[in-house]
Amino acid sequence: MSIELRNVAWSVGFKKIIEDVSLAIEPGEFLGLIGPNGSGKTSMMSVLAGIRPPSGGQALLNGSAMKKVGRRNLARKIGFVEQQADTIDRITVREAVSLGRTPYLSVLSPWSTRDDAIVDDALCAVDMAAMADRMWQTLSGGEKQRVHIARALAQEPTYLLLDEPTNHLDIRHQLGLLELVGRLPLTVVAALHDLNHAAMFCDRIAMMAKGRLIAVGRPVEILTPENLRDVFGVSASVDVDDKGRCVIRFQTSITTLSDIKEGRVA
Ligand SMILES: Nc1ncnc2c1ncn2[C@@H]1O[C@H](COP(=O)(O)OP(=O)(O)OP(=O)(O)O)[C@@H](O)[C@H]1O
Ligand SMILES: [Mg+2]
Repeated sequence: MSIELRNVAWSVGFKKIIEDVSLAIEPGEFLGLIGPNGSGKTSMMSVLAGIRPPSGGQALLNGSAMKKVGRRNLARKIGFVEQQADTIDRITVREAVSLGRTPYLSVLSPWSTRDDAIVDDALCAVDMAAMADRMWQTLSGGEKQRVHIARALAQEPTYLLLDEPTNHLDIRHQLGLLELVGRLPLTVVAALHDLNHAAMFCDRIAMMAKGRLIAVGRPVEILTPENLRDVFGVSASVDVDDKGRCVIRFQTSITTLSDIKEGRVA
């Protein structure tokens, strides 16, 4: 099982949004996609998910062009949680997660107790089992996000694609979610803004800037002070801890009130 992008471009009209992106996702890895706002992460995730056919190059699932794989087959292989996912339907949490089983249901294979068990497991995985009967609209932003992830898990995908999955989550649920997806026997690609979380949980990091994939490698290779300065425009020092993980300390040029009071700035 493989996903591969070969020289992929995606344009809107004459505007090139992503250009010349080549990337092979390795089975079982947790790949973090990082880059400043507008660098093309969401566009790239949509190509990886097979939602946006590339306007140039190829997006391949097991060597076949994704557009030839078909929606239903794609949904059995790839679970995608979008950045601004929402639903207006009046449904319960359990019903929202059950939608993840749609690609498996047919007249010949109707809903079964196995589907119930998969939905239960998905709800438990994101700590939402206790809210299974709540109406979707009554949930907080973070609870909705966890339900979206449960819906994707209920698809039993091989690939889990998450666009800013920790958005809206409190710190315990951010860490819990990244730890969970890292432990799942799945290949995970997640667009992340928290670079320290990317360093903590990802096997590899792919870094985007201005629609191009400019570097791919282990966190220590990618999260260097030079890359942080050149790509994100921030000053930072990077330490490597005893487990070989890098820890980024950002420096700020923002003047604090105490700096002014204590005469450190004019
Ligand atoms: N349908 C579209 N039409 C026009 N421009 C688009 C479209 N989709 C994306 N863009 C532009 O392409 C660029 C990349 O957008 P994208 O959403 O992929 O960035 P991103 O890296 O996910 O940003 P963020 O960190 O803010 O989520 C942006 O400048 C965006 O405005
Ligand atoms: Mg985005």
